[in-house]
Amino acid sequence: MSQVKSVLCVGCTVIDFVTINGSYPKEDTDRRCLDGFWQRGGNASNVSTVLRVLGCKVDFFGMLSRSDAFRVLLDDLCKREIGTKDCPFTERDPPFSSVILAQDSGTRTIIHCNKDYPQTTYEDFSKINLAQYGWVHFEARNTPHTLKMMQSIRDYNQRTGQGIIISLDFETRYEQNQELCAPCDFVVFSKELAGQLGWKTPRQSCVELAAKIPESGPKPVFICPWGSAGAGALDANGNYYEMSSYKQDKVVDTLGAGDSFMAGFIYATLEGQRSLAESVDFANRVASHKITGFGYEHISQLGLSN
Ligand code: FRU
Repeated sequence: MSQVKSVLCVGCTVIDFVTINGSYPKEDTDRRCLDGFWQRGGNASNVSTVLRVLGCKVDFFGMLSRSDAFRVLLDDLCKREIGTKDCPFTERDPPFSSVILAQDSGTRTIIHCNKDYPQTTYEDFSKINLAQYGWVHFEARNTPHTLKMMQSIRDYNQRTGQGIIISLDFETRYEQNQELCAPCDFVVFSKELAGQLGWKTPRQSCVELAAKIPESGPKPVFICPWGSAGAGALDANGNYYEMSSYKQDKVVDTLGAGDSFMAGFIYATLEGQRSLAESVDFANRVASHKITGFGYEHISQLGLSN
């Protein structure tokens, strides 16, 4: 393992109940799936998993639960040596997702059940010793608290001369979460959300996002993964890069491909000290390798040098 500082992933951990189906089921039918499994999921939680599989030191920060149903999530975090020392606990049942994998189309359909599960607050976050981290990654949620958490990292960097990098995984609620972009170094914006906003290409999405950042401050790098079309990235100086994807003959499991992209990008940038274009390329490689197998374990076959 390298001497680079740890990554902290802030967000949610949930149970994913995954069924593998030949095709997407018809409504109001009763059928058997081909196979199934459950695993720890959630965006920041998956990013933590893939970072660990790639060889990073990682902590997760999110609301954990004392409910029996949550035990498997705690066990998995512990088994993978993903640190949770600063996480608060609730008695509530964990959020979960029903995930339908359809083999003929290669789609993954996620139905998420959150039940107003409590989120971590800025007060919880403020107890963390930031000195151990080189990178803090956030999900775009819980906007007022997340904004304060990000700001506190910026303040910490200024006070101490440290350069903790901040990244954001932006997948939902554009209007509400838009203000989370400005304090970040890197924003990864989802193709699905870009489509909802009428943005037709990764370049257009990056440009639209950058235009919203006040001229007075530094601009984050915007990255838009675009499925089989690869990914685009716009840096703070206005340079745009487009990196093509790695085509795979067999698509087995696309659940968490976006989270794997994110982890690949963090790993290449932080551990590998790679350039923006190289890191996006590696992220494409991780995401496209992810979909060739179930879960995340097989990603361990990838490295920056192979
Ligand atoms: C995949 C994922 C799943 C989870 C869902 C939450 O990106 O993190 O693991 O069920 O999204 O929205």
